[in-house]
Amino acid sequence: MSRIEEIRRMVPILGRKVYGKDLVYFDNAATAQRPQSVIDEWNRISSVSNANIHRAVHILASEATDAYEDARTAVKEFINAGSREEIIFTSGTTASINLVAFCFGERYVNEGDEIVVSAVEHHSNLVPWQMMCRRRKAKLKVIPVDDEGHLIMDEFPKLLNERTRIVAVTHISNVLGIVNPVEEIIRISHLHNIPVLVDGAQGIVHCGVDVTAMDCDFYAFSGHKIYAATGTGVLYGKRRFLEEMPPFLGGGEMVGTVTIESSSYADIPYKYEAGTQNFASSATLKPALEFAKLLNDNDLIRENRQISLYLENELKKIEGLRLYGTSRNGEEKVSLFSFTVQGVHHEDLALILDKMGVAVRSGQMCAEPVMTRFSVTGMLRASLAPYNTMAEAEYFISSLVRAISMLKD
Ligand code: ALA
Repeated sequence: MSRIEEIRRMVPILGRKVYGKDLVYFDNAATAQRPQSVIDEWNRISSVSNANIHRAVHILASEATDAYEDARTAVKEFINAGSREEIIFTSGTTASINLVAFCFGERYVNEGDEIVVSAVEHHSNLVPWQMMCRRRKAKLKVIPVDDEGHLIMDEFPKLLNERTRIVAVTHISNVLGIVNPVEEIIRISHLHNIPVLVDGAQGIVHCGVDVTAMDCDFYAFSGHKIYAATGTGVLYGKRRFLEEMPPFLGGGEMVGTVTIESSSYADIPYKYEAGTQNFASSATLKPALEFAKLLNDNDLIRENRQISLYLENELKKIEGLRLYGTSRNGEEKVSLFSFTVQGVHHEDLALILDKMGVAVRSGQMCAEPVMTRFSVTGMLRASLAPYNTMAEAEYFISSLVRAISMLKD
């Protein structure tokens, strides 16, 4: 059995049929599929160790707490953070970024200050900063993007000044699939003592993230895009910021002492984890990251690159098809292809592809300003994971060509 077959057998959903056809799942950038080990971990906690973590002294609580804290250690090691305390569990990238936008804003941002984002942000790394700017009377500045989907880095240093408080930028755009030069953005920002938050929702899956080497100040990602359960997420933050910022939500377990008049807060990470946590789901981050490590295999990476090249070439051959986010040297783009086809609505194409067994995403992809930048109302996106095969890519291309001809006739 080939390596890719072995991997596919670990992910039960990949064996299912839709409308009598083999499922071709090309919507991994929205939600990746889970290996049995992730499903088993959630089931195990729910079946035998379901109890509120960090509270009771009984055996169920202690098993659930151990699983949750083991997952924190797994995340710390996976992204090479300096300490476990710098890993906060959240419900996803959106919650992680909202946490920073709120708490950082409260602590460090005042009227007239500036925040820098890029023109290719997902709504989750834009709207929270807009909200913060409204609250704190600050201004948003934007790193522009060129027609090929690359940030115009010559413009970036010009956006920084003594009023800039933070730069928030995506590692990889969920629409364009281009790996942004975040290390360069961090290096330049740090020359001015400006911290940087990286939205790693897509980056964590493709980039072998090492937050210590990258030297980012915050890195946010979701569990469900890296094979864990939904409703899970991580915020990595440098200790200094996490300690200085006020908490986000108030409630149980995030406190030191509480009187009717006031409270003191728990140490990090618990200061940011108020209320009963999604512990059974967060615990799945450990097997999920083990699975991600298994996928970081040279043969699979080579295969994936070949599939990407094949897709890019074949898509470019289709008349009237426009691809958004093109690579300059083959290294800067991941297996994620967003496109439009002249004279054909993206939603119609997605519906027909679905009936052919191919799951792709269509619409604005939670990135309306990116649609506006490229003068479209929506796109169709095929996003692959290392468990996808060349045979699936070939089937996708032939199905797409057939669907386009059905709609054009
Ligand atoms: N952010 C997810 C996507 O790009 C939902 O599809």
